[in-house]
Amino acid sequence: MKKAPERVQLESITYEHYLVNGELVKWDGAMASVTSQIFSSATNDFTPTVLGSVPDLDATVALEALEAAENAFDKGKGVWPTMKVSERISCIEKFVELMKPQRELVSKLLMWEIGKTENDAYREFDRTVQYIEDTVEAYKQLDRKSARFEKEANIHAHIRRSPLGVVLCLGPYNYPLNETFCLLIPALIMGNTSIFKPAKLGVLLITPLLEAFKQSFPAGVVNIVFGRGRAIASPIMQTGKVDVLALIGHSESAVALQDQHPKKNRLRLVLGLEAKNPAIILPDANLDNAIKECISGTLSYNGQRCTALKMLYVHKDFLEEFNTKFAAAVDALQYGLPWEEGVFLTPLPEKDKPDYIKGLIDDAIGKGAKVLNKKGGAMSPNYCFPAVLFPVDPSMNVFHEEQFGPVIPIIPFSDIDEPLTQMANSDYGQQVSVFGSESEVLGRLIDILANLVCRINLNSACQRGPDIYPFTGRKNSAVGTLSVYDALRSFSIRTFVASKDTPENNAILEQLLDSDYSNFISTNYLL
Ligand code: G3H
Repeated sequence: MKKAPERVQLESITYEHYLVNGELVKWDGAMASVTSQIFSSATNDFTPTVLGSVPDLDATVALEALEAAENAFDKGKGVWPTMKVSERISCIEKFVELMKPQRELVSKLLMWEIGKTENDAYREFDRTVQYIEDTVEAYKQLDRKSARFEKEANIHAHIRRSPLGVVLCLGPYNYPLNETFCLLIPALIMGNTSIFKPAKLGVLLITPLLEAFKQSFPAGVVNIVFGRGRAIASPIMQTGKVDVLALIGHSESAVALQDQHPKKNRLRLVLGLEAKNPAIILPDANLDNAIKECISGTLSYNGQRCTALKMLYVHKDFLEEFNTKFAAAVDALQYGLPWEEGVFLTPLPEKDKPDYIKGLIDDAIGKGAKVLNKKGGAMSPNYCFPAVLFPVDPSMNVFHEEQFGPVIPIIPFSDIDEPLTQMANSDYGQQVSVFGSESEVLGRLIDILANLVCRINLNSACQRGPDIYPFTGRKNSAVGTLSVYDALRSFSIRTFVASKDTPENNAILEQLLDSDYSNFISTNYLL
């Protein structure tokens, strides 16, 4: 490997602290080494590059973090959940200002730890800052709408959204900053307290932000612990004291964690899970556009996105032309290191992923599929070049499993009922992309697809953004909805003060409104 250019070089980071109860506590126990699948130039022998290390914390620390979050919520009496909305907003605004100077370092770590391209790494950081700023605006709007009384059947009601309690927040490795903060920040702003454990990869990049969290929030409101899910998340769930499990990851992990919670109805779930989003390419589609969108949909960040297109249904009338051009377009993609110019495909951060992808390819070939592109399946120790597999059918593993990596199954169809039935039978239901031009056909199709998934992308790839739009899914793809606005709802519950229209009650309400005895009862308009 060529030496990385100076602008992306990194000093090794040994981070020996964790954040519990407002203190950056020094850890004297075992450390976990953090490595990159971008190999070391010094040895040139496919040795992962050591980036540094973080504490490998245990159940004792996990339970201390839980206790700190519980104490900060203090059975609803805590400073944070009872604070004025404007004061909580100030804490979030302080945090985002302290976060901004870490842009370079966090983005470099995104490249090294998870192989994100340079552009995408900076984009992830900037998108996260934007998300936090938009969340503040959305919260102000929500508060303004609540700054009023309603009256029905002689009862005055002052309705607001209140926090739920302690949130255990677990993010994914593919968006270790953005997706995690899209859970954490709305949870906090609504008045919850939290324990946050970074993902299995993309851990070091959180460390430059711990000081900002410490400085911005009251003690115990945010607790950040490093370690294995089994050592940290399981003991916390087993106590039954978690009110919200906020997780972006795999449905199996979500189910395993829920199962450990002894008080199921106490636990609210906010989950973004796996998906198997299909593209349906109709015979009248604009071919060039369909190919361009399917390339970015299937292979942006090597297909490691929950929103990636994971299967392409191509109409038989169109098949030969589509397959030939699509296979050529895949082979034209540039593989390289995240900071190389024009690079699109980058090393896979999970050590075992190339073998897993190869396994899916071999299984499909064994059952009758062919690899359509010349480079498809070419292996290196940290990569497997994207293989375009055709024809794929339900006997093959790649048809059912969320590959979350560079392999593209193409399924031919002649009757639209074939993909529709397969989608209805699938365990997933996040999004779909439909490529076509005849509005009558598209209109009928949209009416059915709207009952199978939660976003229908017309002549474009699937994606989460803009973050202002609802991000959710059916079946094993999600629980709850995350958009800037919906996340505020997901992490809170409607609560209200009801007061019969009597002179005594009205006098009390008037006194409450004229004083600052209550932060809940307030019609102040937040600018
Ligand atoms: O991994 C799932 C992400 O939410 C996808 O987001 O569509 O913006 O890449 P994206």
